[in-house]
Amino acid sequence: MILITGGAGYIGSVTGELLRKRGESVVILDNLYRGHRDAVPAEVPFYQGDIGNRDLLSRITAEHSIEACIHFAALAYVGESVSDPARYFQNNVEQGITLLDELLKAGVRRLVFSSTCATYGEPRQVPISEDHPQNPTSPYGWTKLMMERIMESYDLAYGLGFVALRYFNAAGATQERGELHEPETHLLPNVLRAAQGHIPAVSVFGDDYPTPDGTPIRDYIHVADLGAAHILALDHLRKGGESQQINLGNGHGYSVMEVIETARQITQSPIPVNIEPRRAGDPSRLIADATKAREVLGWKPAYPDLASIIRSDWEWRSRRTQSTNAEGR
Ligand SMILES: NC(=O)c1ccc[n+]([C@@H]2O[C@H](COP(=O)([O-])OP(=O)(O)OC[C@H]3O[C@@H](n4cnc5c(N)ncnc54)[C@H](O)[C@@H]3O)[C@@H](O)[C@H]2O)c1
Repeated sequence: MILITGGAGYIGSVTGELLRKRGESVVILDNLYRGHRDAVPAEVPFYQGDIGNRDLLSRITAEHSIEACIHFAALAYVGESVSDPARYFQNNVEQGITLLDELLKAGVRRLVFSSTCATYGEPRQVPISEDHPQNPTSPYGWTKLMMERIMESYDLAYGLGFVALRYFNAAGATQERGELHEPETHLLPNVLRAAQGHIPAVSVFGDDYPTPDGTPIRDYIHVADLGAAHILALDHLRKGGESQQINLGNGHGYSVMEVIETARQITQSPIPVNIEPRRAGDPSRLIADATKAREVLGWKPAYPDLASIIRSDWEWRSRRTQSTNAEGR
């Protein structure tokens, strides 16, 4: 049985879906602060609560034979972490340590962890490989880097095997699940919400970066490719592989305006844009060197191109709107 923390959220719910399709059993822990109960099928054991709740964790480990944990649960907004760092350190680090302790107490020694390219901070060069210096520019990035360091110490001292997957920009949807955040700060969902007319325009934060069209360049990775990498990371640990830190990206960068232009073609919608001031701490280019993921995990993205990532989200979002309208909601 695999414990998925944050399994009612975007990437966690998709990874749970892929694990179940592969015949694995999963149990989900999520406090639903940013997750959705209906992202978890009724037949999957679900516990609503915090990863820092010791009693709940010992109940879960007593009621299920947990073999490994995939730990997605975290607060994950850069801006929010700057205005309320205490909450981020408490939620992601303090509660994260409690989770690790309770897992070890129950004999669980395999952990796949959601880390992020935000642990690198302002890149000195792109593409970014795993040995690039880590110097986060936000409390959010620091919470993830701290967890990486804590897991390294726990590996040395207590034999906790872990794979920290440093994702670049997750995007896209499966047939059943996609990205629904409130508030939504990610680019693609907002671009498509503008295409649907749910918001009047999409905000572009800065058009004077040193990039060809002046907007920041990011590496987008399909959520199902991310999910697949978690399963490979789990298999790596099951085979006795060493703890690792691994980037997950496609190794291609697309500017904000390229995303919007591609979405205009796919949706056939004008998608109005508002140019706003730059956001503090937004680097101009974040592109992954994902060689290690291929070499160590044997990972090969199935949706490496931007258009297929955007199309998957658009199709999911359009179906969802139709079924919501049909139900009169
Ligand atoms: N979305 C991205 O592009 C991206 C990029 C890099 C890293 N990440 C990391 O991936 C993970 C998943 O991201 P996501 O986009 O699916 O976010 P999400 O907000 O959709 O999912 C996170 C889930 O964790 C739950 N949660 C948060 N704190 C909790 C706590 N203390 N106890 C129990 N549940 C808690 C939330 O309710 C939510 O369902 C996060 O750790 C995030 O930092 C995401």
